[in-house]
Amino acid sequence: MQQALLSWSARTRRDLPWRHTRDPWAILVSELMLQQTQVPRVVPKYHAFLELFPSASACASASVADVVRAWQGLGYNRRAVNLHRTAVAVVDRHDGELPDDLDTLMALPGIGPYTVRAVLTFAFGRDVGIVESNTGRVLARVAGRPLSTRDAQRLADEVVPEGEGWAWNQAMIDLGATVCLRRAPKCGECPVAVHCRWHGGPDPAAPAHKQSTFAGSDRQGRGRLVDAMRLGPVPFDFIADAAGWPDDPARAHRAADTLIADGLAIELDGVLRLP
Ligand code: ADE
Repeated sequence: MQQALLSWSARTRRDLPWRHTRDPWAILVSELMLQQTQVPRVVPKYHAFLELFPSASACASASVADVVRAWQGLGYNRRAVNLHRTAVAVVDRHDGELPDDLDTLMALPGIGPYTVRAVLTFAFGRDVGIVESNTGRVLARVAGRPLSTRDAQRLADEVVPEGEGWAWNQAMIDLGATVCLRRAPKCGECPVAVHCRWHGGPDPAAPAHKQSTFAGSDRQGRGRLVDAMRLGPVPFDFIADAAGWPDDPARAHRAADTLIADGLAIELDGVLRLP
């Protein structure tokens, strides 16, 4: 399976900007953006963001508001707050350079197990496996059974061919994104089909719960409030309109409270604004 996937990837690997760099900061930025946003939307944002904030120290010395503004169009704005938080800690603790070991990276605020491993393998070439939506789906199907987070991580680590962490993980991501698709997998085109235990039947990678829709969700209202704050402070009595819920100010104010709790907003002098 390892040889089959690596040689498939050598022929078909997608040419993506973050695959041309080993700069840990650039990798961190790309991975945070890619966590909940599709590749085509990330590409222009990735370049623009790195122009503004080419290093952890450039980001750390900007305000959270500037970083949230640069995040516009990507959604899930909490990621921008987390990235800023990480940048500040990297400057305070590590002279502005991202460390290259798992425990020290894990001790940083604002980044979790997936991102830490992605930085280790894509910036430092380490042989650690990464489990995100694409690779998690591939692993569960190859294994032929649903995997707990722990099992998936263990299996992901085990299957990395020695010395090939970078290429292997990029290949796994591409396989999940272009062949081992969630809804309509192209098993006929799959380079590892003969090694895969899933042959139709119930999908071991099927999520236990259906993803909720964005329209009408709390997240949509939060997003609208952040969009409004990007333009300037939002007066309290305009919060319901800005959230898109003119008839439900209570809901809008609850959404504003969650933004404050997440570090995405502060309230001051009768307005809600970016920190
Ligand atoms: N999603 C997460 N990491 C990625 C990467 N390095 N390339 C493409 N998509 C990704």
